[in-house]
Amino acid sequence: MESFLIKGGVPLHGEVENSGSKNAALPIMAAALLTNEPCVIRRVPDLSDTRFMVQILESLGATAHFEGGTLTVRAKKIRGYADYELVRKMRGSICIAGPLLARLHKARISLPGGCIIGARPINLHLKGFESLGAQIKIKGGYVDATAKKLSGATMFLGGRAGSTVLGTANVMMAAVLADGVTVIESAACEPEVVDLADFLCAMGAKISGAGSPTITITGVDKLHGAEHEVIPDRIEAATFAIAAAATDGEITIRGARADHLRAVIDKLNEAGVSVEKRGANLMVRRKGKLKPSDVTTLPYSGFPTDVQAQMTALFTLAPGISIITERIFESRFMHVSELARLGADIEIEGPSAIVKGGRPLSGAPVMASDLRASAALVIAGLAAKGATQVNRIYHLDRGYERMDAKLRKLGARIQRVEEK
Ligand code: EPU
Repeated sequence: MESFLIKGGVPLHGEVENSGSKNAALPIMAAALLTNEPCVIRRVPDLSDTRFMVQILESLGATAHFEGGTLTVRAKKIRGYADYELVRKMRGSICIAGPLLARLHKARISLPGGCIIGARPINLHLKGFESLGAQIKIKGGYVDATAKKLSGATMFLGGRAGSTVLGTANVMMAAVLADGVTVIESAACEPEVVDLADFLCAMGAKISGAGSPTITITGVDKLHGAEHEVIPDRIEAATFAIAAAATDGEITIRGARADHLRAVIDKLNEAGVSVEKRGANLMVRRKGKLKPSDVTTLPYSGFPTDVQAQMTALFTLAPGISIITERIFESRFMHVSELARLGADIEIEGPSAIVKGGRPLSGAPVMASDLRASAALVIAGLAAKGATQVNRIYHLDRGYERMDAKLRKLGARIQRVEEK
């Protein structure tokens, strides 16, 4: 296993390129299963998660070629189930269910189960498929979804934490080839859902309202091949912006979308960090001392849960009390005990983390528990005095493209080493 060895205390300076979005790319890759014609998807980030998705598409019978950020997929003839060993590695693989159901009228997928950040049920995905006329059976750890035909329907997809991103994506993909009109109420409004809808429309689908809580899909008989460029990764951009703020640096993030980052920019501004749009880039710089604030994670356009851990790391450096409330995933505070090893003072009270910030952090060995928690530990390590070893960075490689190389280009002293 590999680790990052970080020598902290160096302000980040320079320019960094924003990679394509992982969470937009995964469902878009799955959507290529909806046609037997070739699809070309550009700006696909090279990550272990996107590589898993390529393997899943191949195991379903598609041919795929992934090089230089461009993925060409042709799903000429496919089968309706994926190997358990592949699917279990990545929860995002659930988004193959919608396309398989639409194209083959059957999908057999292993139940994803919980993960370290929370329970992660798929009841809303299944509710959507059932509304379209599918029969669902759960047996031996698998979900079997079958349908004689799929028919458009009006459905409410809101759950206990609000909308579901992959649930909306899955049902939208199942509905594009259904008979008649589907209306998804309480749909997720995330930019990744809009990007998927754009790709589906380029393939010949008829979708309106993506980006709002009501999405309308008029079924068509057939989809064709298409080309698409994935949107920039707003979570990666936010992570680099926070790293620059934490180290009192000044960086330019090339190709980042300010319009996808309003809630993050607003909170960074409150914390004393300036984020300016300069053409297609974002310029990030701290304006003096960091200030404490409060953050509550919410579905888009609220503050993203995927940036909560990184923001918690930043607030450990802001003198005063900050309160971070997690409303999407119930146990997404695994980074807190590891941040404490660097000297952070954080208490968990129900769904909130209370950060008493301002104590200097000092380097220590820490363990990454999940993707965004790993990013928080890297940020804290960059800001801490001395050496920090972040172990188990395979979590990080799932969702950040060459993070160590990008940080080194910004002046960070960070090395990838074999874990001892
Ligand atoms: N939920 C249900 N029932 C469902 C589905 C979801 O109750 O059928 C609940 C979840 O338990 C959670 C809430 O709804 O409380 C939101 O979950 P959502 O379905 O939106 O999450 P997801 O689609 O499985 C995607 C991202 C996550 C990101 C969330 C929230 C991908 C591959 N994953 O997951 O990304 O945190 O949306 O924005 O797109 C990450 O990148 O680190 C990551 C975890």
